Amino acid sequence: MDINGKTALVTGGTDGIGLEVGRQLKAAGASVIVCGRREELLESARGEGMEAITADLSSAEGCAELAKSVEGKQIDLLVNNAGMGGNFGPDDPLDLPFTDKAIFLNLNAPMHLTGLMLDELKARPEAAIVNVTSGLALAPRAGGPVYCATKAGLRSFTQAMRHNLKGTNVHVVEALPPVVKTAMTEGRPDKGKMSAKECARQIVAAIAGNKCEANVGMVKILQLVNSISPALARKIMIRF
Ligand SMILES: NC(=O)c1ccc[n+]([C@@H]2O[C@H](COP(=O)([O-])OP(=O)(O)OC[C@H]3O[C@@H](n4cnc5c(N)ncnc54)[C@H](OP(=O)(O)O)[C@@H]3O)[C@@H](O)[C@H]2O)c1
Repeated sequence: MDINGKTALVTGGTDGIGLEVGRQLKAAGASVIVCGRREELLESARGEGMEAITADLSSAEGCAELAKSVEGKQIDLLVNNAGMGGNFGPDDPLDLPFTDKAIFLNLNAPMHLTGLMLDELKARPEAAIVNVTSGLALAPRAGGPVYCATKAGLRSFTQAMRHNLKGTNVHVVEALPPVVKTAMTEGRPDKGKMSAKECARQIVAAIAGNKCEANVGMVKILQLVNSISPALARKIMIRF
């Protein structure tokens, strides 16, 4: 995709990987709209020349409101990036309200936004949907059962939609980051973490290059292991 002149909506584009993706799309000539909940981060994105919309995507109403706010803005690129983590120890109760919120934000919201915006995307000369999953979509870790399930679900949705939309103007990309240094991974040792900037660089390169997947950093190796032996990939990742 030629990014120059396109209009991109990046969910969760006020911090972390999404903010860097927004910055780099803008540097490549796109008009960028980001969304998130915290006003100070939205204001800061506005200061960088992006349009910023308040949105909480952990409910159907929040997704519908966002889609309404961008109606008629001729979005060419929808980047479903907003997401939340969540760790569970063996003795922790599965917090069901938290679980439902994470499922909605990580899995349902990209589906809702795709459904709500697909007609507009199809009306553009060249469009793309980018879903940010994770290396953990390939094989789960024990400490993040809900998170991994949402990402595996989003990977499956992304793969099916890519084929569903084959022959249309809407290209579907999956971005699979490794461990990236952002607020989401605070508390984990910094060793081995990729910068959000480098992660975004690889995602934007995949969009520009019309790739189906951005296997970022170490995820390339995980993909290789998984293609040879899914059991080995699971064994490596389960204690990650
Ligand atoms: N960091 C990693 O190691 C890693 C690895 C693999 C995949 N990923 C995926 O990459 C994506 C970005 O992660 P990140 O690490 O960059 O996260 P982050 O730094 O925590 O940023 C999350 C962004 O999403 C927004 N957000 C959170 N909850 C939201 C909600 N309910 N509604 C709307 N926006 C919301 C946040 O803004 P507000 O809080 O102000 O709403 C923020 O802009 C996620 O999908 C994540 O699962 C991350």
